[in-house]
Amino acid sequence: MVTHPPLRLGVNVDHVATLRNARAGERPDPVRAALVAIDAGADGITAHLREDRRHIRDDDMARLKAEISRPLNFEMAATEDMLRIALATKPHAVCLVPERREELTTEGGLDVVGQHNLLAPFIARLNDAGVRVSLFIAADPAQIEMAARLRAPVIEIHTGAWCDAVVDGQAARAETEWQRIVAGAALGRSAGLEIHAGHGLDYATAEQIAGVPEIAELNIGYYMIGEALFVGLGETVRTMRAAMDRGRTKIDRHNLQSRSGRA
Ligand code: PXP
Repeated sequence: MVTHPPLRLGVNVDHVATLRNARAGERPDPVRAALVAIDAGADGITAHLREDRRHIRDDDMARLKAEISRPLNFEMAATEDMLRIALATKPHAVCLVPERREELTTEGGLDVVGQHNLLAPFIARLNDAGVRVSLFIAADPAQIEMAARLRAPVIEIHTGAWCDAVVDGQAARAETEWQRIVAGAALGRSAGLEIHAGHGLDYATAEQIAGVPEIAELNIGYYMIGEALFVGLGETVRTMRAAMDRGRTKIDRHNLQSRSGRA
């Protein structure tokens, strides 16, 4: 039987900070959430320092780096200001994301084809500092090929369009988006990239995507923080972990189906 690498779970704690900031105080603390998530089985912690600081703040990033025992994935826009903070924080990884102030969440992937001149020096400076760079992109062949040319070691495939279609019950659109993700993961892996995925995942979509063997990490936040209100964050992490493990064990069957066009 073929064995595949285990799938890592990165827990995004942004929305613990959203709740805290609603009262402009200190609680709930995203660092405490990170420690609980790690205790329950998270392999890493993700946080997005947005330019408008709407959730995670600078001192949250510094405290996360100082206090957690697992890798910190620092999401940020490709700006000089963010680069300076990231180089001072020295997280395990930086995930470069597109950012528009008026958006509710990170709505699309980074346009690495259109912005390769801007991104190339960013990626080089982070690579030189020993920080693993991940580019958050759509599963589009041109974007994936450019990410490899830019010498980013990792891409994170934006799963938002697929997850939205699943939640909206739009089966045909969901299938199209799903096939794009499966093909993108295979293309990225064959180009030597490590493949992550995230945005909008819940227990069901995480279980399904865990069956894509090229994917090494999922980053999940909003759904889990919402579920945590009802069952606690530790329980939510354990349930997500179990869903991912179930999906991973179906890997060979899934593979056969998708390669024959029946997934
Ligand atoms: N990955 C990236 C790059 C993101 O920007 C986000 C959202 O901050 C996530 C994963 C997590 O998405 P969600 O909160 O919808 O699970």
